Amino acid sequence: MEYHNPVLLKETVDGLNIHPDGVYVDVTFGGGGHSKEILKRLSAKGKLIAFDQDTDALSNALDDDRFLLIHENFRFIKRFLRFHGFKKVDGILGDFGVSSHQFDVAERGFSTRFEADLDMRMNTNSEFSAYDVVNSYDESQLRKVLFQYGELRAAAGMARVIVEARKDAPIKSSEQLKKSLGRFLPKHRENKILAQIYQAIRIEVNQELE
Ligand SMILES: C[S@@+](CC[C@H](N)C(=O)[O-])C[C@H]1O[C@@H](n2cnc3c(N)ncnc32)[C@H](O)[C@@H]1O
Repeated sequence: MEYHNPVLLKETVDGLNIHPDGVYVDVTFGGGGHSKEILKRLSAKGKLIAFDQDTDALSNALDDDRFLLIHENFRFIKRFLRFHGFKKVDGILGDFGVSSHQFDVAERGFSTRFEADLDMRMNTNSEFSAYDVVNSYDESQLRKVLFQYGELRAAAGMARVIVEARKDAPIKSSEQLKKSLGRFLPKHRENKILAQIYQAIRIEVNQELE
């Protein structure tokens, strides 16, 4: 199965207005579609540094002397660029969110299509997962996450219901989470609202926008 098929690939890379000898950063490497297109436009002197915190993305690393893949959250970009000797760069590309691969592997818990344990970690070496957000955040932290990252108008009510539901036993699976939030999921909007809830929890778990 294809790892990820980037949309508007050429147009996005055109936007970088690449100088062939320049230094570029792809902060969301994924399947490497954008990175490959950038490398095509660089000379032998050019450099591309890529970031991805997902362990699976490492298997897509490109065999090219001009390329370096860093398995870290891109919020550490300054530190890592300095460490590798890059004082300035000519352009940065970000294709935020989740790759098709992450959505398609059911047990990783990113997709509303499958039942799974609450996980959603991009970096599977991390100890912090969706389970921790759902079961250890207090009501106001949950409200903030759901409102800020999911743009859910019912964030306050949802946070209250989650805290109530987990009093009996921890919420361990996507099915249990969905059941506890049932009153906020009318049939005709269930998929959309669920996707917003997942997005919010996922962004928090992976500190995607820090
Ligand atoms: C939409 S995909 C990018 C696909 C890529 N442009 C391609 O051509 O295949 C987003 C990728 O960024 C990674 N990612 C998201 N937020 C990140 C962050 N804050 N730090 C590092 N990687 C991140 C995800 O693990 C995922 O692999």
